[in-house]
Amino acid sequence: MNVLLLGSGGREHALAWALAASPLLGTLACAPGNAGIAEIARCVPLDITDHAAIACCCREHRIDLVVVGPEAPLVAGVADDLAAAGFKVFGPSRAAARLEGSKGFTKDLCRDLGIPTAAYARFADAAAAKAHAARQQLPVVVKADGLAAGKGVIIAETRGAADEAIDACFGGSFGAAGAEVVIEEFLEGEEASFFALVDGRHALPLGAAQDHKRAFDGDQGPNTGGMGAYSPAPVMTPAMSERVMAEIIRPTVEGMAARGTPYRGVLFAGLMITAEGPKLIEYNVRFGDPECQVLMVRLKSDLLAALLATTDGVLGNFDLRWHDDAALTVVMAAKGYPGSPEKGTEIRGLDKAAEVPGVEIFHAGTRREGSRLVADGGRVLDVTARAPSVGEARERAYEAIRRIEWPGGFCRSDIGWRAIARERGSR
Ligand code: AMP
Ligand code: GLY
Repeated sequence: MNVLLLGSGGREHALAWALAASPLLGTLACAPGNAGIAEIARCVPLDITDHAAIACCCREHRIDLVVVGPEAPLVAGVADDLAAAGFKVFGPSRAAARLEGSKGFTKDLCRDLGIPTAAYARFADAAAAKAHAARQQLPVVVKADGLAAGKGVIIAETRGAADEAIDACFGGSFGAAGAEVVIEEFLEGEEASFFALVDGRHALPLGAAQDHKRAFDGDQGPNTGGMGAYSPAPVMTPAMSERVMAEIIRPTVEGMAARGTPYRGVLFAGLMITAEGPKLIEYNVRFGDPECQVLMVRLKSDLLAALLATTDGVLGNFDLRWHDDAALTVVMAAKGYPGSPEKGTEIRGLDKAAEVPGVEIFHAGTRREGSRLVADGGRVLDVTARAPSVGEARERAYEAIRRIEWPGGFCRSDIGWRAIARERGSR
């Protein structure tokens, strides 16, 4: 079975690494990939917004399955276009990808199906949005409706900040994503990322992770795509996971099927675990990055078989095995991230770092310049470790990081603090 993976980040390197271990795999191609992925797959320099070019590549490389990493191509209908061209795709249709592509769509679905989420209202003009925001308790959450690369959410602590956020959305700060605005109640609690494979009718839980969105130690500084993650998430007890499946995931899967837009792929629920129970913050129609990295090192079963069971609609007869260990990943970013990261700085020492037991290093933004490995993005490396506890996984990851020679990079030194404090407390 030949697989084409779309994307170029640490998430895709982790997926490629897991796919490469499958006895079902023939060749693995990746578009466009990165320097780490190139060590285990054939990287194809494709523009992944060009669906016809992807179909062409599939024909040329005799691809049997396309696995889509990021959300933008899914929201743009890559799964529909490749299916129409006769290829099997892991990832939802354009209609089902609205779960991530339109926050208003998902909020309305939650309302119709009774799925717990923050109270909300949708607006298409600034004056009405501001009048509504003025009547809400502070802080109030202002969101651009569409895809805004993680930047379209503003938690406004004052009325002035809420008005400013509304003006920014309608003023085009988030492009077409801001043509509609959702105003939400602020939820309090602990956040967790929950994942399930969904084949249109059945949902198979993949477990949970927690990430650290702020750039600096102590959860300070600007929001990022994620500076580190660990799994399992201690807040997601087996009972809590069952509630999430029963109250959030299964109703969504049934609701999407009933509307004639069944969901197929991985469903990523961003949750707030509140005093009243789990509430949905948002859906994503892909794996999390860097959450995927920790899930992949914990997965014992064949990933390719699981993705095929999903696309073939047979998850009802499928199960997955997991390592009992915990996993943790630390993101190494280029100095300047998330503002303007410095590109082209040299990275050395990865071989020695990878010798630390239990460590896998996934590349997020790297490229080769001759024999040199250089940074080529904001998030650059995901130093990932598996161990019996989150605390031990953290020790391994930071031991590997000490062996990496990269003066142009930085990382947080406290990834996993919440889980480790709990581990210490329970001992
Ligand atoms: P999103 O892009 O929707 O994941 O939002 C980014 C982050 O904003 C989330 O991870 C939360 O930390 C925060 N957030 C979004 N919506 C809410 C809400 N209703 N209440 C509290 N925090 C929120
Ligand atoms: N790490 C959060 C995300 O992938 O959206």
